[in-house]
Amino acid sequence: TRTQVGIVGAGPAGLMLSHLLSLNGIDSVVIDNRTRADIENTVRAGILEPDSVRLLVDTGVSDRVLRDGQPHEGIDLRFGGESHRVDFRALVGEAVWLYPQTDVFADLADARERDGGDVRFGVSGTAVDITEPAIRFTDSEGRRQEVRCDLLVGADGSRSTCRAEVPEAVRAHSSREYPFAWFGIITAAPPSAPELVYAHSPRGFALISRRTETHQRMYFQCDPETDPADWPDDRIWEELQARVAGPDGFTLREGPITEKTVLRFRSFVAEPMRHRALLLAGDAAHTVPPTGAKGLNLALADVNVLSEVIERALAKRDGDALDEYGPRALDRVWKAQHFSYWMTTMLHALPGATDFDVRRQLGELGSVVGSEAGARFLAEGYTGRWPA
Ligand code: DHB
Repeated sequence: TRTQVGIVGAGPAGLMLSHLLSLNGIDSVVIDNRTRADIENTVRAGILEPDSVRLLVDTGVSDRVLRDGQPHEGIDLRFGGESHRVDFRALVGEAVWLYPQTDVFADLADARERDGGDVRFGVSGTAVDITEPAIRFTDSEGRRQEVRCDLLVGADGSRSTCRAEVPEAVRAHSSREYPFAWFGIITAAPPSAPELVYAHSPRGFALISRRTETHQRMYFQCDPETDPADWPDDRIWEELQARVAGPDGFTLREGPITEKTVLRFRSFVAEPMRHRALLLAGDAAHTVPPTGAKGLNLALADVNVLSEVIERALAKRDGDALDEYGPRALDRVWKAQHFSYWMTTMLHALPGATDFDVRRQLGELGSVVGSEAGARFLAEGYTGRWPA
């Protein structure tokens, strides 16, 4: 087979890129070693920036997000046992949307199928050749395949193998580890609050998110070595309730817990984002800690830039266009890296923190919610509307 763009990874980055390229008459083949069911059964984050929603709707992926998604015009920052609302609508004139990544993936996979896109799930033995650009793999029927292409895109997630094709001599990886992880649950219970609650507490961070009227998503900071098997439902509820408790009497509505996972995370950026015929997009090029839900949004922002430069490079034979990709994408990447790092370190309990450290954090939170400038800084980052 021959195609113009060979894409490794059929998550939101790879599928959205394939969709955007097809709108410009550029063909692509997307492969993934997971099956569609594998991807759909993994619980991921749930918040879309307004520009991510516009990209899905305006490019004709689907308008299901507008029907089944839920606009959120603010969040609560909760500390010292009290909630403080940050009003995105008032501060930046925009809302974010609660719409799970799994649904974004399903909409993209359906749109590619509807439009005759070539997406191969469940492949194995993937190898990429960046000198004579090609992807080789074994398809789900066990046949060895070769796809030759003009350009290769590594959209293969945080454990990217494509990334390793950029030689050590030319690449720079920067990263930061955190001494904590998230314990994520899904519970069959009604919502506890109308908007998301990001809670700082002496026992650590907790996030009260939502999914539907009957199921909710919540997280609490834990040790990275935590084993979910040691956490029966009662113990989880006790911990979550303790982290949001306060004089206002706020309590969580409890229900059976249907999913328990420990999520480790780090901050990571791989530069350059392009080497010869290989371009990296989404988590393959950068990962962020989950606080603030930037990961999916950054991946969509990457491929929005990438589809434009690929179109110029291929259709208009403008070889220099590809050079713009990294610098343009990285400007947003580093702002989102800072935002995710900042939200994380402002809200989590650091092991070994002194009284000074904790009270400084509370001072920081107080100056964010107590100042219009502070709150707007948070709102710009959360909605992804950084001034250009
Ligand atoms: C969710 C996850 C996040 O990391 C976040 O900041 C907000 C919401 C979620 O899964 O709903």
